[in-house]
Amino acid sequence: MTAFAYRDGVLCAESLPLEEIAAAVGTPAYVYSSSDVETAYRDFAEALGGLPATICYAVKANGNQALIATLGRLGAGADVVSEGELRRALAAGIPAEKIVFAGVGKTAQELAFALDRNILQFNVESLPELELLNRIALEKGRQAPVALRINPNVDAGTHAHISTGRSDHKFGIDIDQAPAIFARARDLAGISLQGIAVHIGSQLLDLAPYRAAFARLVALYREFQAAGYPLRRLDLGGGLGIAYKGEQTPDLRAYAGVVREATAGLDADLIFEPGRLLVGNAGVLLTRVIYLKEGSSRRYAIVDAAMNDLIRPMLYEAWHEILPAREAAPGAAAAPVDIVGPICETTDTFARGRPLPPLAAGDLLTICSAGAYSAVMSSSYNARLPAPEVLVRGDRFAVVRPRLDHEALIAQDRMPDWLDGESPRQMARPGG
Ligand code: LLP
Repeated sequence: MTAFAYRDGVLCAESLPLEEIAAAVGTPAYVYSSSDVETAYRDFAEALGGLPATICYAVKANGNQALIATLGRLGAGADVVSEGELRRALAAGIPAEKIVFAGVGKTAQELAFALDRNILQFNVESLPELELLNRIALEKGRQAPVALRINPNVDAGTHAHISTGRSDHKFGIDIDQAPAIFARARDLAGISLQGIAVHIGSQLLDLAPYRAAFARLVALYREFQAAGYPLRRLDLGGGLGIAYKGEQTPDLRAYAGVVREATAGLDADLIFEPGRLLVGNAGVLLTRVIYLKEGSSRRYAIVDAAMNDLIRPMLYEAWHEILPAREAAPGAAAAPVDIVGPICETTDTFARGRPLPPLAAGDLLTICSAGAYSAVMSSSYNARLPAPEVLVRGDRFAVVRPRLDHEALIAQDRMPDWLDGESPRQMARPGG
């Protein structure tokens, strides 16, 4: 998050004061920095320099068209997990031949849609999926390019809810079952088996699980290549962690070193699927204090953002830095305060006992590291309006998703014909 910094006591996104953006678009609002996204991509690409790599941005982290297009212009492909994400990636200009389609539950409709678009690869996660894809491809007189996603049974050492690489997780094909499924794939005329894939979890801070997973994957790759399978692609997934609280994050060159070591001499193109790494620290959520409330045992700052805007603290006990948009006076004493939203649930709490300088109603706060898995995981719970998204570039900003209005939200519902036009009173009249 280098683009978000205080200048003369005012927190800015690139060269724009966040207060200015909040005044223009209201709060809550997500604000992203183009330069942070671009720097994150370039740093990763540079670390992988010399490797035959395609970086397929994991669209699930943030599916806004403007962010996908920002990355696309730098050469990124996309990793998608639904027809919706595939459509988004294509609409934002990502070429189909740079798109991989992952996910444990792709439907027939989704597989057919992706096949018609000529995407690079389907990451298949089960035998029934393989058989269905085969049938759909044959019906179309086609062959589907497939990588089998292998579950290497490696513990990623991250939060249980975002860990995916152990055999008791729903993801991928158990490494022990791989030989049988490879053999089956060879017999399916609609399947062109081209690679293997792995993804062991998200927000990894340690390289050891990668080392273990890549070693198992590469051993399998070599074994099947030697057995005559025409493999040519290895998809190493995403998962690199970012600093939310000053954590020591994996050095990108060290990560690339692990990849180089594991794949040395291997005849394979490599795919990477980073999500959080590229956008996580490139975004913040702006929110204003509505009330300060002194409880008998705790102090609360009730803010206008809520768990519907950013659910990570509630779902994963995630810690997000919270900074006042105006820097506290030097020497101002920090006191612990609970930062809570307006939603009618105790879990609607962004931080408990967080030491912050004195706050007042109307103050603007910045919830940091909200570029990934924030807007995409939002909802309109409590009939709250989904917050707008803003993209900054230098001293300019653009609203890249406007705030919906209440009419639009209400208009999403339809009355059934037996309620249409009737007032509730008429409905309730006996025999009426
Ligand atoms: N590839 C696959 C197959 C994945 O399942 C994921 C993330 C990624 C790539 C990208 O992972 P990343 O580089 O962003 O770690 N909502 C959670 C994170 C869920 C991650 C799901 N899969 C959170 O807010 O922490």
